Amino acid sequence: MPGIFITATDTNVGKTLIAAGLVNFFKNQGINAGYMKPISCSQDNDAVFVKKLLKLKDQLALINPISLPYPLSPLATVRKAKIKIDLKKIKRAFTVLSKKYDLVVVEGVGGALVPITEKIMIADLIKQLKIPTIIVARASLGTINHTLLTVEALRKRKIKIQGIIMNGYTGDELSEDDNADIIFEQTKIPILAKVPWLI
Ligand SMILES: Nc1ncnc2c1ncn2[C@@H]1O[C@H](COP(=O)(O)OP(=O)(O)O)[C@@H](O)[C@H]1O
Ligand SMILES: [Mg+2]
Repeated sequence: MPGIFITATDTNVGKTLIAAGLVNFFKNQGINAGYMKPISCSQDNDAVFVKKLLKLKDQLALINPISLPYPLSPLATVRKAKIKIDLKKIKRAFTVLSKKYDLVVVEGVGGALVPITEKIMIADLIKQLKIPTIIVARASLGTINHTLLTVEALRKRKIKIQGIIMNGYTGDELSEDDNADIIFEQTKIPILAKVPWLI
């Protein structure tokens, strides 16, 4: 597969941390992996951060073809700034990167049902890129509902879900013991990793 789309149950759940970690993980396995953040929103400088962190040589405009001017959701920004998001620009950048790399780790914005135009949501973009997903989910209480909702939205669009990564185990929240098991029981989607809260 040319790429894997990292979505999450919400914003701030750990997409950037996991996406950058996965690129590193794949590289250590001998897989030439790249990173892409198709849409960034102002303060969200994930592309700049990951480019520097992983010492990526690709131009920022290729890693992040759409850079929006406000720290808002994409559709709110599009309206406020009276601009249009050109999905073709994203697809072209993805095609270029996917020719250069064995696998491109693509980081989403927020969660699966974030609208990026009046008619297109992140999940629709995933579908258009024709790549499977990994869902990053919180380890903590509330994650079952958010994760099952995300799975339902992706399955409705027939997007392949490769697995779920549970992020941010602290060891001191009771629900952490059962959340992953219940999510697996309900979805039969493999839990690929349980990542501790690292600081
Ligand atoms: N497992 C973790 N341990 C420590 N900090 C984390 C962990 N996961 C995420 N964070 C921190 O939480 C914040 C949100 O994570 P981030 O990867 O930027 O989320 P997203 O890309 O989904 O918005 C960042 O400051 C990040 O460094
Ligand atoms: Mg991010």
